[in-house]
This record gives sequence, C-alpha cells and structure tokens, in this order.
Amino acid sequence: MTSNFRFAVVSDPHITVPQTLWDHPARFHLVEISIPVIEQVFAHLEQFALDFLLLPGDLTQHGEPDNHRWLAQRLSELPFPSYVIPGNHDVPTLEKSDRSVGFRDFPHYYREFGYEDPNQLYYTREILPGVQLIALNSNLFDDQGKQIGALDEAQFSWLREVLQDCHDKLVLLTIHHNVVEHLPGQARHDLGKRYMLANAPRLREILHEFGVKLVFTGHLHVQDVASDGYLYDIVTGSLVSYPHPYRVIDLETGEDGKQRLKIKSYRVEGVPGWEDLQRRSREWLGERALPFMTRLLTSYPLNLSAEQAAQISPELRYFWADIAGGDACFDFPAIPPAINRHLQRFGAVDSRGVHQAIDNQAVLKL
Ligand SMILES: [Fe+2]
Ligand SMILES: [Fe+2]
Repeated sequence: MTSNFRFAVVSDPHITVPQTLWDHPARFHLVEISIPVIEQVFAHLEQFALDFLLLPGDLTQHGEPDNHRWLAQRLSELPFPSYVIPGNHDVPTLEKSDRSVGFRDFPHYYREFGYEDPNQLYYTREILPGVQLIALNSNLFDDQGKQIGALDEAQFSWLREVLQDCHDKLVLLTIHHNVVEHLPGQARHDLGKRYMLANAPRLREILHEFGVKLVFTGHLHVQDVASDGYLYDIVTGSLVSYPHPYRVIDLETGEDGKQRLKIKSYRVEGVPGWEDLQRRSREWLGERALPFMTRLLTSYPLNLSAEQAAQISPELRYFWADIAGGDACFDFPAIPPAINRHLQRFGAVDSRGVHQAIDNQAVLKL
C-alpha cells in the first residue's frame, strides 16, 4: 500500500458562469464569486505535490450544462487527477430541463474524473497502489420525481461486493450527503435531516462491518469532523459560503505501521471586488440568519413561543456562520441557562461537553 500520500478536498463549489447566474433575494450562497474563488484555490493547490483532489458534490449552481462543462474543462487542466460525485444541485431533476442536465447525463461530463463507465452514477477505483476510492451517488428520485438523499438497493449490493475485495486496502469513501451527524439531533431535526443520508444507519453498519474509517462528505456547507466509533465523516464547507474553506490532507504511516490523517484547512481570504470576503461573507449569513434561528428555537426540543424566540434570536446572528466555520465554542450568558446549554452542544464539544477543536486542523489516528 502507498504509505504516504497527499490530497485535497474542495466541496460545494457551486460553479456559476456569469450567463447562468440565477439571482433571487433569498439567495444564501455567493455563487457570483464561485469562479474567482475556485481559481484562487486551484492556484494554491498547484503549489502542493498533490496525489489527487476530491470534490464531494454540488459542483454547480443548479446542474446547468454550461457550469458542468466549465468545471470539467478546468479540472482537465490541473496537474493532478480529480474525482467527483454528484450533489443534489448537480442533478436536480431525473430528466433534463431547460436549465439543468438530467440525472443520467451527469457521468458523461466527468468521464476523466472517475466516471470511466458513464452508465453508472457511482464508481470505484484504485487511485494509488492499495488505496481504493469508493464514490457513491446519494441522489434518488421517488415515483413522483421528487429528489431524495438516499442510497438505492443496487448500490448497497454493489458496495458490499466492492468492500469484500478491499481487505488489505485503505478505503476512502465519498458521498454528498452526511453519513454521521454533524449537528445535535441532525438526523431527526427538520432543519438538519435533509443534509443526512436517509439510510445513513444502514450505510454506517456496512462501513463498520468492513472496517471503513474515512468518509468525505459535503452538502451541509460546514467544516466539521464527526465520528461514530472508528468511522470519521469529514464534511468540508462550501467554497461559496462562509468561511470559503478547503482542505489539504496527508495520510502518513508511522514506523509502527499505524496510519494518521493530518488535516489542514485553508480559507479564501478575498477575491477582486470582495477583498474583505471573510468579514462580508460572515455578515451575509448573519443578515439572513433570523428566520432559521427562529425555527431552531420554536421547534423540538426547545419549543419556545414566537415571543420568546423573537427576544433570543438576535443574539444568534452569527450562530450558523460560526458553526460553518468549525471549532466553535458557544456561550450566550444573556439567554436562559437551559437554552444556552442546548445551544452550546452545537459547538465543537465531545459528548462530555469538552471543547475538541478538530474541525479544521487535526491529526486523526486511524
Ligand atoms: Fe447539496
Ligand atoms: Fe451545496
């Protein structure tokens, strides 16, 4: 097995070439800077001796052919190989529409980036000797054509077969939807569950059975490292929302044969016209936070009244931005202690409430 290698993760770049920009007042993401941001990231990544780059989905604003074409072309110019999977925004509808590609069209854009067989939405490949990448598609459509974030039966069977042949390999798995909870109660809460894979418990069971330890996800637009036993779900934030992060990761094998994953995260500090990107982007989220904070406070398990929520929610202006940044440590002394205690659990704390800053810079022992 390759004992040491280096790769990068860039997630949710939501590429938007200018003629496709879909502007609406409630827009949450700064897709208008997607191209200068990713250009800056690529320029930085070219300075590292990367073995490969992973992009766990939401490659485009909303599945526009022009945006898929732009990204595929740009990836082909990089000095290292890239591997992609679709996010919900890349394949928003089963059949193609006047704006977006159809579900089955996606792999045809990315034949050089994992999809050697364009007839299947998932793939596996030995990307380095002894290192097996498994790339899953978590976008399904129900009988009414509604998009859901789940794995189908065919993929579960295929995954078992693939893992049976991976005994002495290191497996890296990538999928758009989250496999382990990154927020308290994420799998049950109305605000969080759409970011989780609907059948995450079943996938986790298989990954535990075969000793898979590393999953790279996107979708949530948050920097977070979560674990379930020996399984890590490393979610990388979006390039078009605060804090515009990306990761460079080293897999190292010590003399004792034990492997460690060394994660470093970087942020895009500014691009032309948005020189003060970090501050402006955090403000952008702060300005749009109120309805979400009200929903958080008035729903299970806090169940506050609208009046109570209206008093507290201004305190939470930067709550989501700070979650997105990772490694947050929350304390709101001005709000009632029971509510404060609940909100503190959204910070980077372990089950005992002890601060654990592993979302951005970390060394994980595998
Ligand atoms: Fe997504
Ligand atoms: Fe996204």
